[in-house]
Amino acid sequence: MTNDKYDLIVIGGGPGGYVAAIRAAQLGMSVACIEKRNTLGGTCLNVGCIPSKALLQSSHHYEMASNELAVHGVKAESVTLDLNTMMQRKEKVVLDLTQGIEYLFKKNSVAYIKGKGEIVAPNRVKVSPQEGENEYHVNAENILIATGSSVAPLAGVEIDEERILSSTGALALNKVPSSLVVIGGGVIGLELGSVWRRLGAEVTVVEFMDTLLLGMDQDIRKQMQRSMKKQGMILKLSTKVVSAERHGEKVQLMVESLNNGKCETLEAEAVLVAIGRQPYTQGLGLAEAGVDIDARGFIKVDAAYQTNVGGIYAIGDVIGGAMLAHKAEEEGVAVAENLAGKSGHVNYKAIPGVVYTRPEAASVGRTEDSLKEEGVEYRVGKFPFSANARARCNGSSDGFVKIIADAKSDRVLGVHIVGPSAGELIAEAVLAMEFGASSEDIARTCHAHPSLGEAVKEAALDVEGRAIHI
Ligand code: FAD
Ligand code: NAI
Repeated sequence: MTNDKYDLIVIGGGPGGYVAAIRAAQLGMSVACIEKRNTLGGTCLNVGCIPSKALLQSSHHYEMASNELAVHGVKAESVTLDLNTMMQRKEKVVLDLTQGIEYLFKKNSVAYIKGKGEIVAPNRVKVSPQEGENEYHVNAENILIATGSSVAPLAGVEIDEERILSSTGALALNKVPSSLVVIGGGVIGLELGSVWRRLGAEVTVVEFMDTLLLGMDQDIRKQMQRSMKKQGMILKLSTKVVSAERHGEKVQLMVESLNNGKCETLEAEAVLVAIGRQPYTQGLGLAEAGVDIDARGFIKVDAAYQTNVGGIYAIGDVIGGAMLAHKAEEEGVAVAENLAGKSGHVNYKAIPGVVYTRPEAASVGRTEDSLKEEGVEYRVGKFPFSANARARCNGSSDGFVKIIADAKSDRVLGVHIVGPSAGELIAEAVLAMEFGASSEDIARTCHAHPSLGEAVKEAALDVEGRAIHI
């Protein structure tokens, strides 16, 4: 189903691209979305956010049933793991959600073009369909690039997706490895490391820096480090992987301490390489179209997401910044609204980030470190979940809520949470920041009792040293 000419052609059907396509169609534009994968949803739905969260949930149930129900008086004896069923469930969740986007495209009259898109002129895209069909061209007033990112490679470590895995391979193992070395103590490393540790693997995280989750608030990093260790993860910080080689069923890694230069050999049944992601622009025809990229390969855009070539826009992972699905979505909406003559805008100061481990970690806004660097005066309020009644009832009380407010205006500058449902609780903080709230605004908001949200209120009260329950 293709027109001769569309108002907008979106290349890439991930969270950035599909949301932009739907919003543009809602605003009355004729829109086509070209996707080369067999299903819509991009990295996030197919091999990212969704399968990882499905496995995190399933592995959490397994761990609960194995170790944590007895204290509730629930005896689950001889708990066994059926990994095949767990994987099938994950695939069903992914399939249902990707098909849901096809439905949304139909509902909004977005033309779904299956194939690889290549820009051949500022208003023209060549489509190479998947199964031996002839190539053809589609034309558009505007083109939006939303081609996302791919796994960053590590020199000296070749990913084979059997023993040496990217996140994609680590989401599809058919056997629990006895040992897993994760290279990179970032978000993927901790989330997927948690899945396989819960299912029985001995997990070692090798991280180049002297901390996990670089970039998050220092208190969050410290707490997460403690929690991961307590759960049995072996952490090798300030350590560099020099090489990883497969020897039959095992992988041998040479790692070097950055503190004293000592080398050590690690052996594991599987290795996960999770050292970040890089922009994906292969075969897009950027050079031929004259679209500028930066030194790291990200497409350069202006404040309205337009590249240096008029009528060609870009959003999401491929332009850099936080590589998050919701950030890509917001940018997609902004481009569509700008094209429709509205004032599309993304507030980068209020984009949450969540790590879906247990406990969860969630952040929005400024960290203490960055405020100190800038010499901004601030006050901090903190409240532990151990003093929150609902967390106690739930039996999940590790962690805290931390609110950072401007010392003079009391405006909330950042909120950082480690603990149960941190990923849901952060939404209140994002809304508060979006509305320019003060910590007093949060403190004076009535929160239901008993609820985890009361910890957010108490942290806000603590900014003025008047928390009630501690
Ligand atoms: P993508 O989702 O990468 O989509 C780009 C699409 O473009 C792809 O489907 C690709 O096939 C297609 N494409 C590329 N080139 C062409 C072409 N020439 N023609 C046609 N199609 C093309 N983020 C979160 O916010 N929360 C999470 O919990 C989370 N978990 C993650 C877990 C993992 C394991 C990974 C790897 C990532 C996770 N992310 C998460 C990050 C998130 O997946 C990305 O930030 C998000 O998918 C970026 O969206 P995008 O639309 O920019 O690109
Ligand atoms: P990341 O940037 O979060 O972490 C990579 C880590 O690897 C860093 O701590 C870095 O210091 C370390 N590292 C780099 N080179 C190394 C080396 N040679 N040896 C050892 N350590 C090394 O990247 P990650 O975890 O791969 O995730 C990629 C992207 O996907 C992130 O930008 C993240 O935003 C997104 N994502 C988001 C999730 C979420 O929102 N819950 C979940 C998973 C991924």
